Amino acid sequence: MRIGVDYYPEQWDKAMWEKDAETMARTGVKLIRIGEFAWSRIEPREGEFDFTWLDDVIGIFSAYAIGTILCTPTNCPPLWLYEKYPEIIQVGSDGVRIRTGIRGHRCINSPVFRTYAKRVTEQMIRHYSGKPAVAAWQIDNELEAYPCSCDVCKGKFRDWLLDKYNDLDGINKAFGNSVWSGEYSSITQIQPPTDYPQAWQNPALCLDWYRFRSDSAADFVRDTTLTIRLEDTKVPITTNAHLCRDNPDFYKLFDLLDFVSFDNYPPLNIPADPDEYYSHAFYLDLMRGIKDRNFCIMEQLSGPTGCWTPMSPAPRSGMIMGYALQAFVRGADTVLHFRWRTALTGAEMYWHGILDHSNTPNRRFLEFSDLCKKVAQLNILDNTYIVSDAAIIYSPEAEAAFRIQPQTEGFSYIKQLTAFHSALTKFGANIDVVPSNADLSRYKLVIAPSLHINKKESTENLYRYVINGGTLVLTARSGVKDEHNNCIMDTLPTVFKELIGADVAEYDPIGNGKRTIRDFAGNEYECSQWCDIMRLSTARAYAEYNDGEYRCMPSVTMNRYCNGVAYYVGTICRSDFYEDFVSNLMMQTGIPKLKGLPRGVEVTTRTNSRDEYICFFNNSEESAVIPLPKPMYSIISSIGKDKLELRPFEMDIVRK
Ligand code: GAL
Repeated sequence: MRIGVDYYPEQWDKAMWEKDAETMARTGVKLIRIGEFAWSRIEPREGEFDFTWLDDVIGIFSAYAIGTILCTPTNCPPLWLYEKYPEIIQVGSDGVRIRTGIRGHRCINSPVFRTYAKRVTEQMIRHYSGKPAVAAWQIDNELEAYPCSCDVCKGKFRDWLLDKYNDLDGINKAFGNSVWSGEYSSITQIQPPTDYPQAWQNPALCLDWYRFRSDSAADFVRDTTLTIRLEDTKVPITTNAHLCRDNPDFYKLFDLLDFVSFDNYPPLNIPADPDEYYSHAFYLDLMRGIKDRNFCIMEQLSGPTGCWTPMSPAPRSGMIMGYALQAFVRGADTVLHFRWRTALTGAEMYWHGILDHSNTPNRRFLEFSDLCKKVAQLNILDNTYIVSDAAIIYSPEAEAAFRIQPQTEGFSYIKQLTAFHSALTKFGANIDVVPSNADLSRYKLVIAPSLHINKKESTENLYRYVINGGTLVLTARSGVKDEHNNCIMDTLPTVFKELIGADVAEYDPIGNGKRTIRDFAGNEYECSQWCDIMRLSTARAYAEYNDGEYRCMPSVTMNRYCNGVAYYVGTICRSDFYEDFVSNLMMQTGIPKLKGLPRGVEVTTRTNSRDEYICFFNNSEESAVIPLPKPMYSIISSIGKDKLELRPFEMDIVRK
């Protein structure tokens, strides 16, 4: 496990580099990441490459045993390139080319941009290939499924559609273009959706537009990876994912890459609503699940955030340490804090690093120094891994489809996933977050909320899982759409009807309206947003609506299917329902439960063939006491303990 920092040598006087390296080394920093925005220093004039300053930086840090993650600087082309080729700048959905002076505004599909990006990448990799100080490459920075509507993107999108559907007839059919005289009679009539009025866009067009944009990001990664690989066959390559409106399909983005990296900015305000608890841990599990192995945190929260928005509160005492350890125990093997020192200039001067503008040690720096020491103690966890009994399926296509059509007031695809994740977390379970085509055979419980877009491979995967004895949970809005994002002439949940032994007689998007359901044991829960009124064939009711016109009609069902069981939750409840439901499922499937964990305490269990380590993280603002069933040895404080007393954001790790 290693700690690093993001460093911007081009923003500081050269005279500071050595001092920074010396302080970092003394503190315990093992890695820096540099270069992602430094194209204008690397190629100050067209075709003139200058690596002397980068050589100096890498050399100085390497002399202090600090390795470098070097980035291709393609996120920010230099202004000379924009001036010469303004067509490489992205165009918004309104047809207006955005302005230079910000970042990430290049069109990654532009052939001119790609030529220059390839050349700078080739030059860098030729220069640095085989140099051991370069520990890894990061491609670009936070690539998105950019909504660029320039002529190149339009042309490529049209080709992408023709590739997929053969001809205009195929596209018209897939999109159902007979609606509103939308039939294309010439390829040039195909336009990317505009933001205005969003409500009137064809959802089939919108989903393919998302897929195309996501594929474009993956294609850029693929090309850059091949460019690097031609010169250096060994160095590991990654790119850094972040969470945004235009998330690409992470499974495709990282397909060719050696490891996953994530920019981790956990919330600085602890949610007041208990339904929101634990939701950040979900994203760490999601990142681990992309390649089903350890990942890197390329940017980790370090100080108050904000610049273009009002600033957030500073990380509370314990948060710098706690959030980094939380990432480590959930599968990160490297955490780099963003950033070593806060910028004095530029748009991000208030997005704070570890050190403030003053460059003098502060409270956060002291906590960070402690973190570096603590991490050295955790090497014992290096060869341990997470084994999970439960998995939650995440579908980038479902997420995109719900962004296009939000269904009902308050409905959130991700919130459904995090509701189940939180419920499992409350009982101390390890959870994997995996794609719908993952091998599910190792799980006792699989939860696949709102699989909205049907994919034969995923449907078969879920049937196979249940046939072989698995326990599966599906929820409302599953099976609604064909692969084109069009509705299906069948009762819901279409392809899953047989599996759940029931269908939806009627649905009611009640939005913020409130209803209640009552489970088989008589417990009542509030529900809202959506009501599927279930009609049972082989299934039994697990819960029924408890009021209004749907009273006594099934809302949650349970069906034995071959060797397994399939549940269907036809509504959306508050956290108490998911807690009780998951508790029952864990009992039935034999997943061990840790009862009585204080709210906010997260548990991750890591194992190797000999030992099991239980990591308790108090992700709350209250102190927590956790009695242990027997005395256990703490690898954090090197003593035996029969109970753990955790301050806010503190972690303790015991050997079972
Ligand atoms: C990240 C980005 C960094 C920096 C940081 C703080 O998303 O990769 O370059 O901008 O946010 O805003």
